[in-house]
Amino acid sequence: MSTKEALIQGLNEDLAAEYGTVIRYTYQSGKAFGLLGAELRELLAGEITDELGHAAFLTDVIVDLGGEPVTEPRQFDKPDGLKEMLALDEEMELNDVKNYMAHAELAGELGYIELKLKLEEMAADEAGHARELRRILKGL
Ligand SMILES: [Fe+2]
Ligand SMILES: [Fe+2]
Repeated sequence: MSTKEALIQGLNEDLAAEYGTVIRYTYQSGKAFGLLGAELRELLAGEITDELGHAAFLTDVIVDLGGEPVTEPRQFDKPDGLKEMLALDEEMELNDVKNYMAHAELAGELGYIELKLKLEEMAADEAGHARELRRILKGL
């Protein structure tokens, strides 16, 4: 597999992850009760907007690179309880950070400078999401 093919495949995994996150956050919002649940719902609503923006960008880039964007979301766990949900979300956000940084490096190797910087920016977005989730987790 060429580096470019590896990049397209990696970006498609990221795209499936973004769709999975949008669905997971929507699902969790419906299952979040109480005052802390209300706070979580508000936080997740903002993050869903970010993740949809990431998905749209990845779709455009995959098409531009000559690939076929996936439309299937990555599957996710459905733990009961706010604490377990938040712990899962933080872990998955940090996982996304790792993947975006790895794919930013690939993009850099190929000389795709806009893509490299944008993927790093998206890694930073996910790191920010993880930090916000940690803030709520600390209160539990
Ligand atoms: Fe995202
Ligand atoms: Fe995120």
